[in-house]
Amino acid sequence: MAKPFLDVLKGDRRDPPPIWLMRQAGRYLPEYRELRAKAGGFLDLCYTPEFAVEVTLQPIERYGFDAAILFSDILVIPDGLGQDVSFVEGTGPVLKPIRSATEADLLSMDGLQKTLAPVYEAVSRLTGRLGAETALVGFAGAPWTVACYMVEGRTSRDFHAVKSFCYSDPEGFGRLMDLLVEATVAHLSAQVEAGVDAVQIFESHAGVLPEPEFMTWVVEPIRQIVAALREKWPNLPIIGFPRGAGPMYVPFAENTGVTAVSLDTSVSLDWAMDALPVGMPVQGNIDPVFLLTGGNEMDRAVERIIDACRSRPHIFNLGHGVDKQTDPKTVQRLVSKVREFSS
Ligand code: CP3
Repeated sequence: MAKPFLDVLKGDRRDPPPIWLMRQAGRYLPEYRELRAKAGGFLDLCYTPEFAVEVTLQPIERYGFDAAILFSDILVIPDGLGQDVSFVEGTGPVLKPIRSATEADLLSMDGLQKTLAPVYEAVSRLTGRLGAETALVGFAGAPWTVACYMVEGRTSRDFHAVKSFCYSDPEGFGRLMDLLVEATVAHLSAQVEAGVDAVQIFESHAGVLPEPEFMTWVVEPIRQIVAALREKWPNLPIIGFPRGAGPMYVPFAENTGVTAVSLDTSVSLDWAMDALPVGMPVQGNIDPVFLLTGGNEMDRAVERIIDACRSRPHIFNLGHGVDKQTDPKTVQRLVSKVREFSS
């Protein structure tokens, strides 16, 4: 049976648009919080296939989304490369920061496949657990965004450490980025081999670089990843999410080779319909804060977005992830509202 999410990525329109949400599994769901408490640490949750499968399926069981996203995190790559990674309650991710090429050179691909094997095991179990109309999405962080966490050591506001590294030693920083490209290709390839239908590349910190550095550290590494995947799977659907890229969404869409782009909340849809390559599918882009307030205002935002995207293949999604304060009932209202629509 056809999967509407994949049909749209092939370039067909569907009315109503297929829907899934970034961070659709997570702390806003009581069943997630319950399992999370049982699992212990966040990485234990990611590396225990039984738990990862369960958490991936929770939002599918509740809402019947058109796509399930593998439950994991972008920071399993630095963990697999040998960096110390932990998740601290109330703080978020904490990594032992890498501040020079010498420190970066200590990382290696040697343990990656072994550390990440449970992730691929979760993928292969999931393929047997989803309905015929539900797609399975694998993912990875883009090298620049992952490097931001690896160098800063935590969530950052100003990105001084990572920018200082790449501006002052582009050659050394380039070696770290080459390693991340290699690790990302290996990680996404293993997910495809285990059975995901499509992949999304999260470039959450695309919006912090000047244009020349954006081309070097955002566009070029992603182009290499897409090219390596397409060599093995010419038709693999790949969604790019260069959050905050603004007008640079256009060179991103034109030069990386991605199948589709996920639009963040601040992107003007009228502009995007005009400026992006002809026929390229888009995903997005309701402000997740509408899900905190809900009501008629949220319904109107849904209508506006679906109307604005009528000239392209469109997947309904958020402009960023579901906030942990979101009421699960509001997500239900959102899904019902999107599904009421038809041309
Ligand atoms: O449902 C899904 O979307 C699948 C799973 C998923 C998670 N993280 C689970 C998670 C995905 C796709 C991600 C991607 C991710 N992780 C990104 C890119 C997207 C974005 O949000 O910009 C980034 C930057 C990360 C890094 C990361 N992981 C941060 C900054 C945090 C802490 C923030 C927070 O909400 O606490 C995490 C932890 C994390 N990843 C949680 C979840 C459900 C919360 C962990 C918990 O239960 O305590």
